Amino acid sequence: MAKLLEVTRLSAAYGSVQVLHDIDFSLDVGHITAILGANGAGKTTTLRSLCQTVRTTGSIVFDGQQIVGKATENVVRMGVAHVPDGRGTFTALSVEENLRLGAYVRANKAALALDMEKAFTRFPLLKHRRHQQAGTLSGGEQQMLAISRALMLRPKLLLLDEPSFGLAPKIVAEIFDIMRTINREDKVSMLLVEQNASLALDLADYAYLLETGRVALSGPSDRIKNDESVRRAYLGY
Ligand SMILES: Nc1ncnc2c1ncn2[C@@H]1O[C@H](COP(=O)(O)OP(=O)(O)OP(=O)(O)O)[C@@H](O)[C@H]1O
Ligand SMILES: [Mg+2]
Repeated sequence: MAKLLEVTRLSAAYGSVQVLHDIDFSLDVGHITAILGANGAGKTTTLRSLCQTVRTTGSIVFDGQQIVGKATENVVRMGVAHVPDGRGTFTALSVEENLRLGAYVRANKAALALDMEKAFTRFPLLKHRRHQQAGTLSGGEQQMLAISRALMLRPKLLLLDEPSFGLAPKIVAEIFDIMRTINREDKVSMLLVEQNASLALDLADYAYLLETGRVALSGPSDRIKNDESVRRAYLGY
């Protein structure tokens, strides 16, 4: 299987404090890979490394090109869209304006209206609120908008930082179902960061578990899910 992302000996630091220590992971084209771990394990920092918004060493090869050392904007142009923790929508702008901004760096703007309609078909709740200020949406609606905004880039890779955070189980199930559809139908590969291991393992093909900035364990999701000792020791359920 061809690799979309191949990360080797990735380290990252904030000032003099090193947070990631030589981690290796990869993502096959078309797959969903999950990165699991407790608070402070380095999940968000891993995604920041891919966007080059934190100081990194090592190698990150995306779609055949080295990312380490590139400007964040150029990483985005390569087709990497980030749904950050806390969602990163522009709260003062409307739903529609947020979606438009998502396509900002896209070279071909022709299909913009089409993609916006697609977002509204995927998330009908957003359609009714297209002129509403993003900051006044519910948490679930904001997450839907954040994902839709990222998809407006027509990315090859979607980075998702705890999309389930703070949302009711029913909304989370709905959002994860739609993420699965987007992966299958639009062939968008995903790197999903989650504290909710059971949820993430249901969606992902492959998973890595981070512990204090190191990969403690990795394997196909099914194997991790069905290994009771691993589940008890690392995942706590
Ligand atoms: N901007 C920053 N400056 C200094 N240290 C930071 C910064 N951001 C994160 N850290 C530290 O890096 C470590 C990893 O943080 P990170 O946010 O990557 O963890 P996480 O796995 O995403 O945790 P959570 O589940 O709480 O979101 C933590 O010890 C954190 O305190
Ligand atoms: Mg985090």
